[in-house]
Amino acid sequence: MAKEPVRVLVTGAAGASFSGQIGYALVPMIARGVMLGADQPVILHMLDIPPAAEALNGVKMELVDAAFPLLKGVVATTDAVEACTGVNVAVMVGGFPRKEGMERKDVMSKNVSIYKAQASALEKHAAANCKVLVVANPANTNALILKEFAPSIPDKNISCLTRLDHNRALGQISERLNVQVSDVKNVIIWGNHSSSQYPDVNHATVKTPAGEKPVRELVANDECSGAAIIKARKLSSALSAASSACDHIRDWVLGTPEGTWVSMGVYSDGSYNVPAGLIYSFPVTCKNGEWCIVQGLPIDEFSRKKMDATAEELSEEKALAYSCLS
Ligand code: NAD
Ligand code: LMR
Repeated sequence: MAKEPVRVLVTGAAGASFSGQIGYALVPMIARGVMLGADQPVILHMLDIPPAAEALNGVKMELVDAAFPLLKGVVATTDAVEACTGVNVAVMVGGFPRKEGMERKDVMSKNVSIYKAQASALEKHAAANCKVLVVANPANTNALILKEFAPSIPDKNISCLTRLDHNRALGQISERLNVQVSDVKNVIIWGNHSSSQYPDVNHATVKTPAGEKPVRELVANDECSGAAIIKARKLSSALSAASSACDHIRDWVLGTPEGTWVSMGVYSDGSYNVPAGLIYSFPVTCKNGEWCIVQGLPIDEFSRKKMDATAEELSEEKALAYSCLS
């Protein structure tokens, strides 16, 4: 029997400004089944702001023209209530993107008001148990604001995207070691989706003909390359962010493969002595639509310092975000 369609909200779907256009790359992936599976029909809800309404309608026309078999409907609107009504998955891309030379904190106050308003619309109108992924920067703190203003959505349903950083680490290890990316696993992104994040390869392995080898023996810990993309493209990452957003939701809903974890920004419960009450990226496994933080990994002194430093930045961002609310 055919499955019932899942309603997926994408905010910022027009990708109408002169930046990275994640939404425009993301909606065809969702319509093709990349996010929820090749047998899962979807109804896309796309939200953007009034100046982008015409461009948003153009995206809707293209989706119709592409005749995606899984796509059972498209709602394209500038009304947050209409956009959020009945959605099962919400991917929050809309916001004010950082441009070359800009600090993430420069855009905090604009994003706090966007996320406060959209939280209320989701809280009142989304389907029960809606899963939320915040992509727009500052992603962790936008997700925290969303959580604060949508108290009836369970904490476990609100997350932010650090899967792009996780995938970048896998990609860079595979390039350096000249191995298939699918043979590398279990890197970790700890903390903030910012330059303070800690990409940790201490527990990562690579499959070789002689069995699994620790990556740590082969490459050093890596650095985030978001700023490098902005420098090269004069735009922030778009196709890799869209693809990683699909990976994030797919693994969350359909589960992570046995023996593999992924990185997700989730509400800290104090695991690994990360302060509770932050949205912090942890290694997680997913099963039956629920994520669970991987416990008991040994943390050395170097890692501890890096994990604390990114937590400290998130605490500062949280304080700054709250100051924007008053
Ligand atoms: P973009 O400017 O191309 O698209 C943003 C879209 O959001 C535009 O269409 C804009 O009109 C819309 N928008 C603005 N305010 C809105 C609102 N209140 N409601 C609905 N839509 C709204 O930007 P982009 O390059 O697609 O990036 C989107 C966000 O994702 C940025 O914040 C960027 O920094 C962030 N980003 C995050 C990651 C990550 O891994 N977490 C990676 C890359 C980019
Ligand atoms: C990225 O990781 O590519 C982006 O989050 C960079 C940015 O600040 O927009």
